[in-house]
Amino acid sequence: MWRSLFGLLLLCPLAAIIRAENICRSIEVRKLSDFDQLRNCSLVVGHVSIANLQLPGNVNLTQLQTNVTEITDYLLIYHTTGLLTAEYIFPKLRLIRGRELLFNQYSFVVYENRNLRELGLLQLLRIQNGKIRIENNPTLCYVDTIDWVYLLGNSTTQHFSIRGNRSPNHCPLCNGLDADYDYLHKNMAYCWRILAPQLKLTRPKVEGCPASCGRFGCDVNGTCCDHNCLTGCSSQNCTLCGNYQRNGRCVNQCIASYELNKRLCIGSKECQQLNLIPLAQGLRCVDQCPKNHKPIIDANGGKQCDLECRGLYHVKRIEDLKPLRDCVSIQGSLIIELVDIKEPIVKALEQALGNIKEITGYLKVIHSTPLMSLTFLSNLDTIRGDELIETKYALYVVNNYHLEHIWPTNRQVAIQHGTIFFHLNPRLCYEKILNLQPALKSLKTEISVADVSPNSNGERMICGEDVSTLDPQIQDINATAVSIVLDFVKYEYVGNLIGYTYHYMEAPKRNITMYDGRHGCGHDNWLMDVSIGKNRRHMISNLKPYTQYAYFVKSMSPWDYHRQMEAYSKIQYFRTLPSKPSPPRRLYGISEIHTQIMVHWWPPQRPNGNITKYIIDYELHNLTSEENKTKSYGMEKPLFINDPPNCECNDQEPYYSGPQPEVEKYFNKTQTTYEEALPNLIYVSRRRPPVKQDKFEKVVDFTDLISGRPMSQVVENPTTTTTTTTTTTEAPSSANVTKPREVTAELYEIFRLQVEERTRNIQDMDQEKFRILHDPPKCHSSDVSVANQLEQKCVVEEEIKGFVVPGNQQYYNMTNLLQNQYYRIYVRACVDGVVNGCSNPAILTVRTISAEVEPIVAENKRLQQMNKLF
Ligand SMILES: *[C@@H]1O[C@H](CO)[C@@H](O)[C@H](O)[C@H]1NC(C)=O
Ligand SMILES: *[C@@H]1O[C@H](CO)[C@@H](O)[C@H](O)[C@H]1NC(C)=O
Ligand SMILES: *[C@@H]1O[C@H](CO)[C@@H](O)[C@H](O)[C@H]1NC(C)=O
Ligand SMILES: *[C@@H]1O[C@H](CO)[C@@H](O)[C@H](O)[C@H]1NC(C)=O
Ligand SMILES: *[C@@H]1O[C@H](CO)[C@@H](O)[C@H](O)[C@H]1NC(C)=O
Ligand SMILES: *[C@@H]1O[C@H](CO)[C@@H](O)[C@H](O)[C@H]1NC(C)=O
Ligand SMILES: *[C@@H]1O[C@H](CO)[C@@H](O)[C@H](O)[C@H]1NC(C)=O
Ligand SMILES: *[C@@H]1O[C@H](CO)[C@@H](O)[C@H](O)[C@H]1NC(C)=O
Ligand SMILES: *[C@@H]1O[C@H](CO)[C@@H](O)[C@H](O)[C@H]1NC(C)=O
Ligand SMILES: *[C@@H]1O[C@H](CO)[C@@H](O)[C@H](O)[C@H]1NC(C)=O
Ligand SMILES: *[C@@H]1O[C@H](CO)[C@@H](O)[C@H](O)[C@H]1NC(C)=O
Repeated sequence: MWRSLFGLLLLCPLAAIIRAENICRSIEVRKLSDFDQLRNCSLVVGHVSIANLQLPGNVNLTQLQTNVTEITDYLLIYHTTGLLTAEYIFPKLRLIRGRELLFNQYSFVVYENRNLRELGLLQLLRIQNGKIRIENNPTLCYVDTIDWVYLLGNSTTQHFSIRGNRSPNHCPLCNGLDADYDYLHKNMAYCWRILAPQLKLTRPKVEGCPASCGRFGCDVNGTCCDHNCLTGCSSQNCTLCGNYQRNGRCVNQCIASYELNKRLCIGSKECQQLNLIPLAQGLRCVDQCPKNHKPIIDANGGKQCDLECRGLYHVKRIEDLKPLRDCVSIQGSLIIELVDIKEPIVKALEQALGNIKEITGYLKVIHSTPLMSLTFLSNLDTIRGDELIETKYALYVVNNYHLEHIWPTNRQVAIQHGTIFFHLNPRLCYEKILNLQPALKSLKTEISVADVSPNSNGERMICGEDVSTLDPQIQDINATAVSIVLDFVKYEYVGNLIGYTYHYMEAPKRNITMYDGRHGCGHDNWLMDVSIGKNRRHMISNLKPYTQYAYFVKSMSPWDYHRQMEAYSKIQYFRTLPSKPSPPRRLYGISEIHTQIMVHWWPPQRPNGNITKYIIDYELHNLTSEENKTKSYGMEKPLFINDPPNCECNDQEPYYSGPQPEVEKYFNKTQTTYEEALPNLIYVSRRRPPVKQDKFEKVVDFTDLISGRPMSQVVENPTTTTTTTTTTTEAPSSANVTKPREVTAELYEIFRLQVEERTRNIQDMDQEKFRILHDPPKCHSSDVSVANQLEQKCVVEEEIKGFVVPGNQQYYNMTNLLQNQYYRIYVRACVDGVVNGCSNPAILTVRTISAEVEPIVAENKRLQQMNKLF
């Protein structure tokens, strides 16, 4: 019957297939009558949630039965009572795609169901994406008898967590309690309930396939099986694909075609034939235009959606960005006002506003503390100013505490009409604003002091040419730590230095810029170390091995000090060294031939380097009688099933702002003032210090002093220097009377050198503290004395015996085994460039089948496959 239905579908044009399906949107089942919505659906484009449902004891089960074969998002069964099995509800469910996930993670959740005894999803073949969580269902059996690894088609990104259900020891076996069943049933390894084997598509061939096929096997001709084809081995001719289907073939995404119902890829003509609309944004075939689009009829009479971003958009929180998504031109104005935003928003701004090229009205950015720049408008090139603020301003930027930067580097945003208004942006340099002058296109718009004040912008920064830069160097590095050293800071700055902040983040690509993902009030993607004090050395630790990081360094100075100084380094990169990996995961073995066991595994969770090989070893395992009892449960009970839920233990939380220089205790005003006086004795500005003076030079050159030229020739502007000079010349009594200048100059120079040395010493204290530990090298010979090894002069390389397979192969076929024996199997992952860089073994025990069972297993496999297909 199935066969004929498939045949029919293949012959029909696409439109007929799609109409034949009853398509529903997401469905929430809370009471019995809600099943009415679900019953006729064959395809749920969305999720199904069965939550807080209380089934009466006398319910007519046929009333629950649905025709659902596929759920594109997720399935949740939560807090039900009276539901004994999901088999009544989903007798036909074959696929959960996990396109959109519950809590962004889960595609199948069965949680806290009081009476649930079995899952009973007899037809389920695949959970394509997302994690699985089956927890706290006190009466649930037959969870450990399901081959979850098989259901998870796309292995390594998915995980399952199974706990708190009925203990398997208190559950019946797949073949029932009765030992009288024939061989076939005894060999039923995986089942959804008693006598209901898990459907599995077995590969025509596993051995003798090209290595590239991996564990997915190949057809008789050696063509790799497409594991995304759920109804067969080939991808060329497939009626049900885990990802997308295009013209009967499985594809991973829709390319140059439109996505329909999250499962098919079709052309724009086909989409229109279905009386649907091909939407260029996101390449979807939809039934109605999204919010910021209006429907239009194109020349051929087909429906289309035209993006329309018209009006005044006021962005106050992340949700306000939704209607702006995909906008290229805003026919109107944009106000950004992020007052009191606690969540990270910069990434969302980048995504939503990154396409905008033109704003026809004005752009207003006010009270937006989180913003450090406007670079999220990465494609903006024109603000037309057809509409202005106070009939005058097209770009209005007021009171943005952390704003330091305006447009992306190398981008000029033309302002066609109107001018700009910038006030109360304490970190935005006046010069940067003045640089906008050429962008003002209307005649006679000079930036005026009233519109852009040098006093209310940038007063918390050092601006202009004088911004000093830090030049950090990586001094040493190991797998988890890096030691960084900065150049010496000049004496005139040391007094004001509170410390440094080191900002770093993982950067797989070298494309990070300082403003990316930055959030003025912290919680951005950068982690930060604060190093209080003048030491130019710092160690960042707790890094991940073999990972590239980006970092930059910033100096901290008291912000209310009259000489502002914040120096930055450029963004630089380093990569930590490799180290020993964690063991391979999800080790799994099966014996289908009595002399062989096929083992496969997933790569380690933390590879910590380039995995170049796996080493497989095994031994005959003598079971104690106790073990013997438990092990004979099922046939190859997957031991990993109770793995702890995959915990990607992040050693560090993204940084939350951390102490800022404003915090009083980080500097001692008395002390700063005192130390500042010292360099002034020697270095005095030639100019009268302007508001933000930071450049200091010697009073007079050393040689000038020696040569004894009159001071008036040397000093052009005597206002500040006179006092110093006067002091010098008026105090000859203590020095040599005949050559007062020379002697004084020498004294100055000695004093200067002393101060210099002292400031250097201050910056270089405790060098030992910043030393990076390295593993001792490999010993040249293996018979090194124990003493030598103890002193950590070298380590002997352990020899690990076993079979070696290359790092890109995650399976191994053990041959020449004895029948009906337990084997203990050890698999280790090894990385390059580390002495003894092989992981601890992952261990598994598997029994070979006996020769007499072998033909039956083969037959059983064939039957299961047929079961599945028809
Ligand atoms: C379910 O599908 C079958 C065919 O697969 C059809 O005969 C039946 O009418 C459908 N039931 C409902 C309630 O739509
Ligand atoms: C259950 O409901 C179906 C249709 O809704 C009906 O045909 C059948 O007779 C009912 N069974 C019982 C036992 O009430
Ligand atoms: C597995 O999933 C990842 C991420 O979703 C995807 O990029 C990849 O193509 C998938 N692989 C297969 C074979 O489907
Ligand atoms: C295998 O190759 C033969 C000869 O090229 C061809 O006739 C046959 O259809 C192929 N089988 C499959 C399953 O592709
Ligand atoms: C594709 O499937 C159809 C129907 O099952 C079958 O008739 C046809 O031979 C298949 N084609 C290939 C190339 O396998
Ligand atoms: C860097 O490049 C990667 C891959 O090309 C991309 O995913 C990422 O978004 C880029 N990051 C930035 C900040 O441009
Ligand atoms: C990892 O090792 C393999 C084999 O030694 C080599 O071909 C590959 O280039 C390495 N990859 C990296 C990223 O170093
Ligand atoms: C297993 O038991 C046999 C006999 O009892 C013994 O000869 C053999 O050494 C044992 N093997 C291991 C690995 O303990
Ligand atoms: C283990 O069980 C098998 C049969 O289930 C039995 O033949 C064997 O003697 C048992 N071994 C031990 C050590 O109890
Ligand atoms: C600040 O520094 C001065 C001079 O070094 C010292 O006397 C004073 O105790 C310090 N104050 C604090 C609060 O540390
Ligand atoms: C790297 O060096 C740091 C500092 O010396 C040390 O604490 C850490 O243990 C070292 N890491 C490794 C993997 O050796």
